[in-house]
Amino acid sequence: MRVIGDLKKVNLLVRKIKREGKSIGFVPTMGALHEGHLSLIRQAKRDTDFAVVSIFVNPKQFGPQEDLKRYPKPLKKDLALCRKLKVDLIFLPQVKEIYPDGFATFVNVFGLSEMLCGANRPGHFRGVATVVTKLLNIISPDLLYLGQKDAQQALIICRMVEDLNFPVKVKVMPVVRDEDGLALSSRNAYLNKSQLKEAQVLFKALSLAKVMIEHGQTNPGRIIQKIQDLIQNKKQAKVDYIAVVDPQSLISLKQIGSEALVCLAVKFGKTRLIDNLRIRV
Ligand code: PAJ
Repeated sequence: MRVIGDLKKVNLLVRKIKREGKSIGFVPTMGALHEGHLSLIRQAKRDTDFAVVSIFVNPKQFGPQEDLKRYPKPLKKDLALCRKLKVDLIFLPQVKEIYPDGFATFVNVFGLSEMLCGANRPGHFRGVATVVTKLLNIISPDLLYLGQKDAQQALIICRMVEDLNFPVKVKVMPVVRDEDGLALSSRNAYLNKSQLKEAQVLFKALSLAKVMIEHGQTNPGRIIQKIQDLIQNKKQAKVDYIAVVDPQSLISLKQIGSEALVCLAVKFGKTRLIDNLRIRV
C-alpha cells in the first residue's frame, strides 16, 4: 500500500495505472474510518483493479462554528485498517496543497444544496462539491463510492457528475449500522455513554415511519409528528429537522405515493447526527 501526499506523485502513479489498462476505484473520506467506510472500500476492491482512498478533512465544508478543529484524526489506525483491506493507494494531501494561496474556484450544485442539511449548514455542500471535483480530477477514477448515510451528499455528487460530465460511474452503498441500529459515523466518537444510548432513538424513529407507511399512512405530517414526539422524549435530543421527501429531488412530499425518503438531523449535546431511510410501498 502506498501513502502519497504529493499531488504530482499521485498524478504520475494514476497515469501509470491507467496506461496498464487497470480500472481505478475511489473512496473519498475524511478519515476516522469505521465499518461504513470499510464497506465502500471492500466494494471498490471487489469491482476494480486499483483501490484509492483519500483521507482529507476538508476545511471548506465546515462552518465557522463547526467541529473542524476537533474532528478525530486517528491516522495510524486508519492506515492499518486500509492496509488490512489491501488498499492500493492512500491519498493524504495537506490543506495547502488542495487549497494553495489564491484558491478562488468553487462548485455549487444549486437547488439540492440548499435544503435539509444545507439549510442549517450554509456553504457545506459547496465545500463538498468543490473538494470532490478536485479529488476526481486528481485521481481520475472509473468508479466512485459513496454512502447512502449521507443521502443528500450522494445526490448532490451524482448531479454534479452528470452536469459536469465527469467520466466516472457512481456507486451509492447502503447505510452500515451497529447492532442497535445506530448509523456508524465518525462523529459518534463525540457522544458520551448516555448520549450514545439515546441516539438509538434515531433508527427507532425511522423504523416507526416505515411501519406507519407500510400500514397505509400517506400523510407526511402525521409521520413527522409521531417520530418527533418519539425523539423529543429523549432528554438530550434536539431536533434539527425531520423530513419526508422525494428520494430524487429531496422536495417535501405532500402525500406519500410509491416511495419516500425519511431523513433527519438531531443534536445530542454539541454533536449533530444525521440518518435516513428509503421506504418503498
Ligand atoms: P466521511 O464522513 O468520512 O464519509 C466518507 C464516505 O463514507 C461518504 O460517502 C459517506 O457517506 C460514507 N459513510 C459514512 N458513514 C457511513 C455508514 N454508516 N454507512 C455507509 N457509508 C457511510 O462524507 C465525507 O466524508 C466527505 O463529505 C467527503 C465526501 C469525503 C468530502 O470531503
